[in-house]
Amino acid sequence: MKVMGINAGMHNGNGDIAIKAALKVLQDKGAEVKMINLFDYDILPCTGCEGCTMQMGAIQMGKQKEYHGCVLKNKDDVDQLVAEIHECNGVIIAAPTYDLAPSSMYLRFAQRFLAYELSFLLEIGVVKENPNTVAGLISVGGSMHDWQPLALETLQASMFTMSLQVVDRYMIQRSARPGSVLTFPDQIERCKQMGEHIWEAMNTPVEERGWLGDPNDGVCPNCHSSLVYPGDPHWDGVEFPYECAVCGCGGTLGTNPETGKPMLVIDPERGHIRDRFIDKARAEHLNEIIKTRIEFFSKQDSIKDEYAEYKAMKFPTVEISR
Ligand SMILES: Cc1cc2nc3c(=O)[nH]c(=O)nc-3n(C[C@H](O)[C@H](O)[C@H](O)COP(=O)(O)O)c2cc1C
Repeated sequence: MKVMGINAGMHNGNGDIAIKAALKVLQDKGAEVKMINLFDYDILPCTGCEGCTMQMGAIQMGKQKEYHGCVLKNKDDVDQLVAEIHECNGVIIAAPTYDLAPSSMYLRFAQRFLAYELSFLLEIGVVKENPNTVAGLISVGGSMHDWQPLALETLQASMFTMSLQVVDRYMIQRSARPGSVLTFPDQIERCKQMGEHIWEAMNTPVEERGWLGDPNDGVCPNCHSSLVYPGDPHWDGVEFPYECAVCGCGGTLGTNPETGKPMLVIDPERGHIRDRFIDKARAEHLNEIIKTRIEFFSKQDSIKDEYAEYKAMKFPTVEISR
């Protein structure tokens, strides 16, 4: 069993400690562990070219045979890091919370995952098998939940692109200075428990794997995120009264019988049709992307002159003196 810890926080910071606590448990059980800190690698930001999904769409439509991956593939370390993740049975990811959400260092890495969108690559036959890697997520903040409301959810949202199955998530709180988390032994214990959960998940047959974190965590019973919002029509008319912002499950708002707190009651018939954690459901998004592009290309001529005008329009910029 191979497990990799991935930290986006400071060297010797709280995320480092949290991951080490979990990895030690896994190592003691016999797992082969590795740990990386994203600061040690060259990670370029996604250029936004969508060259990856353009290729995937072209292969899907029979216009291209081979997938060449990201335009940045050989220009930095991301391809090798992703290859390592694909070799793993489990990953534990920690990211510091900056401005309520995971740090830019983490997002810079995770937003490169689009070029490895597993459901699309499976759909078009570029990848033959899902490696079924499980994930544990840790957000590290100086405050409590009120200052980290987008932290775990944004980490979760970065998981479905590579079909990483989140089996546990945990929010480290009130740990702002390097080592602070050690003053909260219960938080360290919880990180060790995450190591136990990852071990258990890796040793469970894929089809039987499920959530091992706090059963009442979050508002969505599917992915346990706390972000549920009133739904709007999707590109193809599908609509739910309420949707989970992370997994995309739909339903109505109800009350958790265990806690008395609000919960998403997932529509028993249609509630999972947009579940981003189901490869088949997510692959449908490739069709949305293709349709949106075809519509644009059919209108491209009509905006040619206006687009040229906008391109030619220039405003003063900020000159940096070095
Ligand atoms: C730019 C910046 C923004 C931050 N914003 C938040 C925040 O919104 N919520 C919070 O709980 N902590 C915030 N913090 C505190 C960090 O999350 C905290 O220092 C954390 O322990 C860093 O993790 P590390 O020790 O693993 O690097 C912020 C820190 C920095 C540097």
